[in-house]
Amino acid sequence: MDWGIENRLSRIIKPETGRSVMLAVDHGYFMGPTHRLEEPRKTIEPLLPYADALMLTRGVLRTSVDPKASVPIVLRVSGGASIVGKDLTNEQLTTSIRAAIRLNIAAVAMSIFVGSEHEHQTLTNLGKLVSDAEDYGIPVLAVTAVGKELEKRDSRYLALSCRVAAEIGAHFVKTYYCDDFEKVVRGCPVPLVVAGGPKLETEMDAFQLAHDAIGQGAVGVDMGRNIWQSDHPVAMIRAIREIVHEEASVREAKEVFEEAKKTSEPVLAKMSAR
Ligand code: 5RP
Repeated sequence: MDWGIENRLSRIIKPETGRSVMLAVDHGYFMGPTHRLEEPRKTIEPLLPYADALMLTRGVLRTSVDPKASVPIVLRVSGGASIVGKDLTNEQLTTSIRAAIRLNIAAVAMSIFVGSEHEHQTLTNLGKLVSDAEDYGIPVLAVTAVGKELEKRDSRYLALSCRVAAEIGAHFVKTYYCDDFEKVVRGCPVPLVVAGGPKLETEMDAFQLAHDAIGQGAVGVDMGRNIWQSDHPVAMIRAIREIVHEEASVREAKEVFEEAKKTSEPVLAKMSAR
């Protein structure tokens, strides 16, 4: 692998464990001011010390992250649709490689929508992005997005999407956890990270998801809502780190969460303190 790509990837997927806890805060690019990400800086700042990488758009990076921060940036460079528009899958590349390089990013990310009306457009855009990014030694994260059609979250569909992304040249892939996740991992020759998806009922459910995904071969998580929509986001990310980097069980992660809760301010108090 190209030295630059390998070097940048190793800033995200930590060589000590071969794993990564990526914090996803890119949701506003199609969801607007999502619950508990209304003021991105307030959400991001307390979590930064615990994130191996931050996934976001250039707008939130420039307005809401201190340029002195050392966290590797995975920059979302696709968009062009919103939750109130006609079709969430109608995405194009929204940020050039040149603009991404100016922001000193560690990787770029874009969504592909396999099986949708815009499958062809998003897949050929992925090919273009990979070719452009490789010219500068920049790795590409393909996000196997499922849009509103969440019923597509099964191993047959996700294995297909992940494999297609890897074949086109993505250097790592973000997907969803599903039953028979091993099948998705087996068919994908590049590292996989899992999204958390909409907030689950309990913290234990999120720990279980992370634990099962790691146990079945994911190299980490790229998690958003299950961390920052929690009443205790710092405790949450600390517990997720234990699972990802320290092989903690779900029960051990819960213990870390309960302990960390004692020392971290609940989010409700913090967000209302203006
Ligand atoms: C949307 C994304 C999000 O970053 C992704 O869904 C991760 O966040 P969450 O854990 O909240 O699902 O890429 O396409």
